Amino acid sequence: MTYAPLPDLAIGARHAAFLLLQGRAAAAAELCHRLQAIDGRIEWIGGFIDLLTWAMPRPQLYPLVRALVDAGFANPCSFDLLAATAIWAGKPEAARALTDPARFLQVAALHGPDDPVLPLLAAELSRDLEHFQQPSSRAIRMGWRRNHLEQDESPLLRQMFQRLQTMALDYIARLPAEPDNPFLRARPDRLGLRGWSVVSGAETHHVSHLHPKSWVNGVYYVAVPRVVADAVEKPGWLRVGPAVERGFNAENGWDERWIQPQPGLVVLMPSHFTHETRPLNQADERRICVAFEVFAQPA
Ligand SMILES: [Fe+2]
Repeated sequence: MTYAPLPDLAIGARHAAFLLLQGRAAAAAELCHRLQAIDGRIEWIGGFIDLLTWAMPRPQLYPLVRALVDAGFANPCSFDLLAATAIWAGKPEAARALTDPARFLQVAALHGPDDPVLPLLAAELSRDLEHFQQPSSRAIRMGWRRNHLEQDESPLLRQMFQRLQTMALDYIARLPAEPDNPFLRARPDRLGLRGWSVVSGAETHHVSHLHPKSWVNGVYYVAVPRVVADAVEKPGWLRVGPAVERGFNAENGWDERWIQPQPGLVVLMPSHFTHETRPLNQADERRICVAFEVFAQPA
């Protein structure tokens, strides 16, 4: 038996870009899927974008990337690229169809800030932590995580996931039905939920990132230090929007929102919504939250 060789990711990414530049969107999407099967985080897309932007002026790339998405390569990374190319093409409405926080970002309380479950969860979520200093493939910096909470049999965590699932499914049910919208039509048939705790100290923060292996993601705040009351410096706040250095803004098609954490608050967003957090800059208190993802379950 012979096997087709696995494509080298960097070479494959450039090949996929060449296919797209030749107008062969279906072949490009098929190769991109093969690369995604090797690297589910799609980190090779940087080389793909580099070649596209080298070969063609940025304002002309939108129809090509739209064709790639329409050919089935539909995921947070391609939606992010599609929004960027829409902005480069001077099509703010096409960008907002993917990026509008007024339509797609939900910030709502799961329960009040004095709910008795919170100290119990704070204690549970502070156990078995793993420290991350500056991992190359994660957005966290100088913080602690406990992964795979969905696999834990703790009744407290099972109840937490049940409540988050109810909230996430309600959010999804209220999303509009628009067959032409690449994000909305990419809703998986079978949904799964997974999550991890994040315990933040003075320096912990997250650099701008998206969640490439899910469709929707969110955060649930469990313990929030008093320092987040500072609405000027915004310590520990969540910023949802494009990284500042990309030059995107509300006018050209990608607005931002700042979210002040409070215990019991849940934020839900599409997984292509890039976001980041600011450090607390206070050594004596911790912020504890649960990051979670709604992802496609295999049939
Ligand atoms: Fe995140």
